[in-house]
Amino acid sequence: ADAFDEHCDYLFKVVLIGESGVGKSNLISRFPKDEFRLDFKPSRGVEFAYRNIKVRDKLIKAQIWDTAGQERFRAITSSYYRGALGAMLVYDITKRATFVNVGKWLHELREFGGEDMVVVLVRNKSDLDQSRQVEREKGKGFAETEGLCFMETSALQNLNVDEAFWK
Ligand code: GTP
Repeated sequence: ADAFDEHCDYLFKVVLIGESGVGKSNLISRFPKDEFRLDFKPSRGVEFAYRNIKVRDKLIKAQIWDTAGQERFRAITSSYYRGALGAMLVYDITKRATFVNVGKWLHELREFGGEDMVVVLVRNKSDLDQSRQVEREKGKGFAETEGLCFMETSALQNLNVDEAFWK
């Protein structure tokens, strides 16, 4: 069923971006349901998740967009970012290359996204701290330089996922 069918007073759009395999699909699956997918299937096209919150008597619906990190599966970039109020830019703390490419994603985001978009740099897979390739300070420093919010999460342990979302 289309979530637009339901009554809601406000709708806001959040996009998830980042390299393939950083955990976007699993983060998104933490939002509406509390489950974790261990099979790794690069997502094709765009997936949506919805989340409702009630503030006083108003129903606010967050529409979260997830697209494949792999270039060849990517939907049309400009329409992906259109109207988004927030973005979660995800990298994997155990794979340096996914952090190196954060700059590329940020560039795309700034080119296609709105000026007031709130961007959270999400450092995922914090449960794999022993295999960490990107120092905490590095991620934090980058986020501060670029004016991004930041959060370290584990989709596996469902750690800080909510907090990252509501930043
Ligand atoms: P694309 O769809 O290709 O863009 O990838 P994605 O960013 O959506 O990654 P996905 O969510 O499919 O996760 C990739 C792999 O990482 C899967 O095998 C997940 O089980 C694993 N994974 C995701 N999040 C975590 C985490 O927080 N901790 C650990 N240990 N593994 C994770």
